[in-house]
Amino acid sequence: MSVVANRDEILKALEVVIDPELHRSIVELDMVRSIDVGENGVVDVTVSLTTPGCPIKGHFQTAVAEAASALDGVTHVNVYFDVLNDTQKAALQQKLGRGSLPEGALAQVSNVLCIGSGKGGVGKSTLTANLAAALAGEGKRVGILDADVWGYSIPRMYGLGSTRPPVSAERKIIPLSGHGVKVMSIGFFVEEDAAVVWRGPMLHKALTQFLQDVDWGALDYLLIDLPPGTGDVSMTLAQLLPQAQFLIVTTPQQTAQKVARRAAQMAHKVSLEIGGVIENMSGFTTPSGERFAIFGEGGGKELADELDVPLLGRVPLTMPLREHADSGLPLVIEDPEDPASQAIRQVARGLIAMAPLELPVLPLVEVGVSAPEPTESRKPVGMSLPMA
Ligand SMILES: Nc1ncnc2c1ncn2[C@@H]1O[C@H](COP(=O)(O)OP(=O)(O)OP(=O)(O)O)[C@@H](O)[C@H]1O
Ligand SMILES: [Mg+2]
Repeated sequence: MSVVANRDEILKALEVVIDPELHRSIVELDMVRSIDVGENGVVDVTVSLTTPGCPIKGHFQTAVAEAASALDGVTHVNVYFDVLNDTQKAALQQKLGRGSLPEGALAQVSNVLCIGSGKGGVGKSTLTANLAAALAGEGKRVGILDADVWGYSIPRMYGLGSTRPPVSAERKIIPLSGHGVKVMSIGFFVEEDAAVVWRGPMLHKALTQFLQDVDWGALDYLLIDLPPGTGDVSMTLAQLLPQAQFLIVTTPQQTAQKVARRAAQMAHKVSLEIGGVIENMSGFTTPSGERFAIFGEGGGKELADELDVPLLGRVPLTMPLREHADSGLPLVIEDPEDPASQAIRQVARGLIAMAPLELPVLPLVEVGVSAPEPTESRKPVGMSLPMA
């Protein structure tokens, strides 16, 4: 019987296995978690994936088995998978030169919400603009990052754009303010209607700058208006903002839902948490009260159930909501009682209710030695405990 190849030889052989998305060898990327060689020539290899539902599992299965089987004495190869933990993922990002934001950037931002959809024109920007104003109306400190670098529309919806954002003494870009909301958009820096070609590394750099070099200050919510689709921008933001939540906008119809599901799959793939679904264009009610389900019924609820996340609201079609997109004043401010405004304000209140409670830090209290130890189940969260 021939001698079975050893662990190092197998690892060397696995250098030919390339991650098709990252274009580098799984050995170089440190994704080979373990190699066990049995005496009978059976080799067990465990490969760590970035996400559990990685669609390229099959590719690794075949490529690893082929590479290892070619070695002396290997009779069979079992390929197992596990998932990179957060530290390993961070190390991988570092290796790829795509580190997350430096420590401290956005440290004063409590919640980051990415508003996305698989499909264009479903109302992401309209909802972002109005949701931000509604959250501000609830007394929250809010910012909007218009990450639709190709089709930015937030400046117009907030009546901003004729002035360039100033730069502070600390060389930070000061966001413009509209209706109590801080706004940053590529639209502030380019000629109107200029075609902007942003791709790959340049896009990554521009978005990084918008997060890192903009003086967002203390915010309860930073809303990010995504471009349509599941492309580069969403991936980049997911890498830069692992703590962000994804809100998916869909219309009630089946086809839109199918596309929205793709956005959800993308969010899963890059490990972003999905905070909920907002159904937009949910029917039209005439002034006499007659309701027409123009885009069908029930798609938002179905998608939310499927993803096991809340349906945050159903926003009806109304003429004023469309008209106000061009007026520079969000409808929730101009007419808070419009049915669309009411629905959006309800989404805002739902989001506030969902946000983790910030308990006040209680002052340390001196207690006697007889004070009972808090049991695990009674242990209060978020405050300093008196230590004996
Ligand atoms: N509930 C609504 N009632 C009436 N009009 C709406 C509603 N929601 C969105 N619209 C209109 O639909 C159009 C598309 O909306 P919007 O630009 O917000 O979509 P989007 O998803 O951001 O599009 P894109 O993918 O191009 O960025 C706009 O004209 C907007 O005013
Ligand atoms: Mg948009």
